[in-house]
Amino acid sequence: MIPYKQMTAEELLTEKNRLDEAYQEFKGQGLKLDMSRGKPSPEQLDLSMGMLDVLTSSDVLKCEDGLDARNYGLLDGIPEAKELYAEILGVRTDEVIIGGNSSLNMMYDTITRAMMFGFYDSPRPWKDERKVKCLCPAPGYDRHFAISELFGIEMINIPMSPQGPDMDLVEKLAAEDESIKFIWCVPMYSNPQGITYSDETVRRFARMKTAAPDFKIIWDNAYCVHHLTQTPDQLLSLMDECKKIGTESRVFIFASMSKISFPGAGIAAMAATKENLSFLKKQMSIQTIGFDKIKQLRHVKFFHNAQGVYEHMQKHRKVLEPKFQMVLSVLEREIKPLEIAEWHAPNGGYFISLDTMDGCAKRVVALCREAGVVMTEAGATYPYGKDPHDSNIRIAPTYPSVSELEQAMELFCLCIRLASLEKLLLG
Ligand SMILES: Cc1ncc(COP(=O)(O)O)c(C=O)c1O
Repeated sequence: MIPYKQMTAEELLTEKNRLDEAYQEFKGQGLKLDMSRGKPSPEQLDLSMGMLDVLTSSDVLKCEDGLDARNYGLLDGIPEAKELYAEILGVRTDEVIIGGNSSLNMMYDTITRAMMFGFYDSPRPWKDERKVKCLCPAPGYDRHFAISELFGIEMINIPMSPQGPDMDLVEKLAAEDESIKFIWCVPMYSNPQGITYSDETVRRFARMKTAAPDFKIIWDNAYCVHHLTQTPDQLLSLMDECKKIGTESRVFIFASMSKISFPGAGIAAMAATKENLSFLKKQMSIQTIGFDKIKQLRHVKFFHNAQGVYEHMQKHRKVLEPKFQMVLSVLEREIKPLEIAEWHAPNGGYFISLDTMDGCAKRVVALCREAGVVMTEAGATYPYGKDPHDSNIRIAPTYPSVSELEQAMELFCLCIRLASLEKLLLG
């Protein structure tokens, strides 16, 4: 195998004709595989089935401070669940709110409230600002971008590096433009690249000047315990760094048990300063009298503490590691020598992000779809669904079995090769 860019036009054409035939054969196989959404596999969900058996009727009546989990009350969650999440997120218990099953829901509500009412340190509700903008490290999580788009919040792309977002640009923009109100971050094993922000990046987030007095960092720590290797990444605590210099009111941390227990029936959490939370709780108390405390109790009884969660995640790792290795090994074998795409082998998280040659991602995804393999839509990892280079594709290896993944990856690599050849031949 020699790099495609070193081939003559004739060699490229011969290669393309050969691969066209292989592609037609794949089409004939009638594949039906999905590598598009980051869902846990049934095998992973089975790991938490014990949670359905941990509670007895007497447990439910005995929350830590004698409260009855069946009844109304405890808007911000049962104390035991708050303690569990405080430990996981490295914050104080009174800095945690336990919500329903979805952290995305909590993030959506946070932005909605900011639009309607602002934060406690806002001069006015965001809807009354002339313009509201946000910073979007990209590639990133499509559903973050969808929330901004829904509210008409202008999104500004921030390139990612192996250390995290381009902090020179973040600092410059946040310091000079007061309409920039927040930034979306997935600081650990980012979706989709699996990048963990460096200590220096976290410190710069804590230190940076912001023109908006109510600037917020949406620190979506969705993958904080989702390690895939013996050498997990380490993320510095943003809250601690901010507290050292008095900027902690900008911190809003989110996390959930969706990919620890059950996506449909996990528990989500949010952490922020007491001042931020008490302002929000007033509004939350109009919205609900409280979330599902019986489910919160189930999680605490099942995991006991943060250590219990870490041990449980080792079981997930056993299921996931071979899948990630399969994806990476097929890429190494089929694509690396050709020098037509780049990717990063993550130490954790749910995705592998691949960059094709410029202008090829849409074509690769379309070719895969035509032959029966659904990938995340090209462009989805960028604000407004527009990848400026049309190069990023998110691979979600968690749901299919290892053998399905192998088939899907063979086709995926074939499609990358075909799209690259088309590009090189047609210019
Ligand atoms: C970065 C990130 N945040 C949040 C979520 C959704 O979390 P939840 O199920 O808690 O709403 C996902 C799901 O893929 C995600 O990748």
